[in-house]
Amino acid sequence: MKALIASGGRGTRLRPITHTQNKHLIPIANKPILFYSIEAAVHAGIKQIGIVHNADSLEVPEYVGDGSRWGVRITYIPQETPGGLAQVVGLAEKFVAGDKFLFYLGDNMLVGGVKRFIDEFERSGCNCYLTLSRVKDPERFGVPEIRDGRIVRVEEKPSIPKSNFAVAGIYLYDSHIFEAVRSLKPSARGELEISDAHTYLIEQGFTVGYTEITGWWKDTGKPSDLLEANRLILDSIEPRNEGTVDAASDVAGRVIIEPGARIGNSKIRGPVIIGRDVVVENSYIGPYSSIGDRTHIRNSEVEYSIVLRDCRIQNVGIRIEGSILGNDVEVVESAGKPRVHRFMIGDQSRVEIA
Ligand code: G1P
Repeated sequence: MKALIASGGRGTRLRPITHTQNKHLIPIANKPILFYSIEAAVHAGIKQIGIVHNADSLEVPEYVGDGSRWGVRITYIPQETPGGLAQVVGLAEKFVAGDKFLFYLGDNMLVGGVKRFIDEFERSGCNCYLTLSRVKDPERFGVPEIRDGRIVRVEEKPSIPKSNFAVAGIYLYDSHIFEAVRSLKPSARGELEISDAHTYLIEQGFTVGYTEITGWWKDTGKPSDLLEANRLILDSIEPRNEGTVDAASDVAGRVIIEPGARIGNSKIRGPVIIGRDVVVENSYIGPYSSIGDRTHIRNSEVEYSIVLRDCRIQNVGIRIEGSILGNDVEVVESAGKPRVHRFMIGDQSRVEIA
């Protein structure tokens, strides 16, 4: 069993963060989203992982490395132009080399790992095994039509969904998927759709099994998904304090404080993770916040937010809430009179002010 992880695409719905950073490297609880899928494969005992990445950028290969830190081998497969998930699978035929494999969309987050799915797939003898999750908005996803307990068709982003399931971005295949991929024509949005490959398998008489994901699953396509994924991961962190907290501070709940971080005269209400060499002074950090390395927060309040590395938040009069701040962002009080808002904000940013 091998694993193939998709890390390409442009992440347009997560701009401006994705103008300068691959969406799969955005941190959730201070760890890149992509690492969660790699670790899920590693925990399931997989030793060979292929990662498909945008050919015009070495950001993912350089950041993730050769896999030795997890004791596995990672092979990088460049994708010249984004052409759909079925194209991603097709690019990996040589890497897969006849084995069965797990195909994991690197922006999907799942609690509970993938071992159960792999075991069920192996036991079932199916050619393809899909994981389904009940959702309120199936029209955003690949949607199965299920009759008498069997999937008879999968439709990509249907306007009238035939069920309230999404096909999650965690798939199991044998080599017949390559035959399916080769048969496809681009869809209306110009992509080779993975849902069409699944429908092809069904129509050709291959067995396509499925299981329901009963725990938490999320496709982190939108900013609100990132905040929710961050909340969920923080809910299960093991508290530890490797930084320094002075006597005037009050730290309660699940809180991780990384080495070199300094908390002075502040209140931290977990679940919270505070990165390396962060400084928090005269401030409040509320539940479900992740603070990236070397960020400084002074005389301010932050809650339910993701703040990336090297930010500066200083003397902000109103609590920052439900926010995502990219790398090197400054939110500071404007000096002198009159009291003004002064902005220096990149393309496609969003600011809400009270
Ligand atoms: C992709 C797939 C879709 C699947 C979803 C899961 O959608 O095309 O079938 O349900 O991932 O995350 P996309 O993220 O490209 O909109």
